[in-house]
Amino acid sequence: MSEKREIILSGIRPTGRLHYGNYFGAIKTFVDLQEQGKSCYYFIADYHALTTLTEREDFFRQTLDMLRTYVACGLDPAKSVIYRQSDLPCTAELTLLLGMVTNIGHLERGTTYKDKMSKLTDRRDGTEGNPLSYGLLGYPVLMAADILIVKADIVPVGDDQRQHVEMAMDIAQKFNHRFGETLKVPAPVARNALRLPGLDGAAKMGKSEHNTLDLLDDPKTVLKKIKGVQTSTDPAPLSVESNEPDMVIPEMAPSLGTLYRLLHLLAPEDVYLDFMGKYRRQEKFYGLLKTTLAEYVSKFNEPIIERYNDPANNDEFVMDFLRENARKVTPVALETVEACRQAMGIGHSLHRA
Ligand code: TYM
Repeated sequence: MSEKREIILSGIRPTGRLHYGNYFGAIKTFVDLQEQGKSCYYFIADYHALTTLTEREDFFRQTLDMLRTYVACGLDPAKSVIYRQSDLPCTAELTLLLGMVTNIGHLERGTTYKDKMSKLTDRRDGTEGNPLSYGLLGYPVLMAADILIVKADIVPVGDDQRQHVEMAMDIAQKFNHRFGETLKVPAPVARNALRLPGLDGAAKMGKSEHNTLDLLDDPKTVLKKIKGVQTSTDPAPLSVESNEPDMVIPEMAPSLGTLYRLLHLLAPEDVYLDFMGKYRRQEKFYGLLKTTLAEYVSKFNEPIIERYNDPANNDEFVMDFLRENARKVTPVALETVEACRQAMGIGHSLHRA
């Protein structure tokens, strides 16, 4: 008997260009799983983006460009089902149904919600005047619907999304407990999920933090961004000796730590170890570290930029596969929604029958 293929689902908000956190935290794994022949669903979370988005004019353009970047990174709409969240409107119906088993206190304790709320309160992130919405509070419920609607086994995401996946597991369990086994509970996020720090040394690289290195950055921009990273002129004190070659020494200044993390992701092991040796010996090397890293980054970006600009990777191509893939995911999704309606006692939808 053939084993059932594992179902993979993940999404990214169309908030602009993809950065290295998105790539190494998520997209790289998306491509690996696709190439392993798993049943993959990858989508652009445009509904989710509405919780923070203020620029209407660029929204659709950004969505298309993100999809072109997906393709440039190796995601293949012939192998993975790549779609737009809003093209699967029954996700909104499932969100509503799942809301009936979701505790408000649980949502209010969500770290992303609390974080957004504090930023909103002290008016630092440009979203001022955008009141805390029902949509923002319900963000994890919508995310649970995305995951549960395709019966996902695995949700490859960066470490920052761990709590959201846990909430989805919790919501599915509550639903099953109350209405009978209906929803598949996904696995928790892998323990080694990445959280790439920002170029400013902040704990997370992120668009709203303005500390990203982007996949579409050209060599000039890459060098400018990396040269601008703060590195103290005095070597940081060394109080910890580590025999683990791939470990960044904890005492390192945070932004220097980011440079090492990036070097570790991109450069061959011997180059990384060589720079680690320079750090341990407290040599003067920051300039060389930055130019070396900038070269690796630009080399990494080059083929992605090329494929992004490939004339065949155009809007028409994207719209065509979006249409086709929305048709592929819809039956699976409707099956889940119908099962939930049935379990809750509403009965099947008559207009779909
Ligand atoms: P988003 O758009 O913020 O990020 C997309 C993916 O990139 C990962 N990521 C990072 N990984 C490591 N280090 C970083 N600095 C970093 N920054 C971003 C994120 O973990 C994510 O995997 N809520 C989601 C989108 C979403 C979703 C879903 C994901 C909506 N529904 C269902 C999975 C399943 C989000 O805002 O990701």
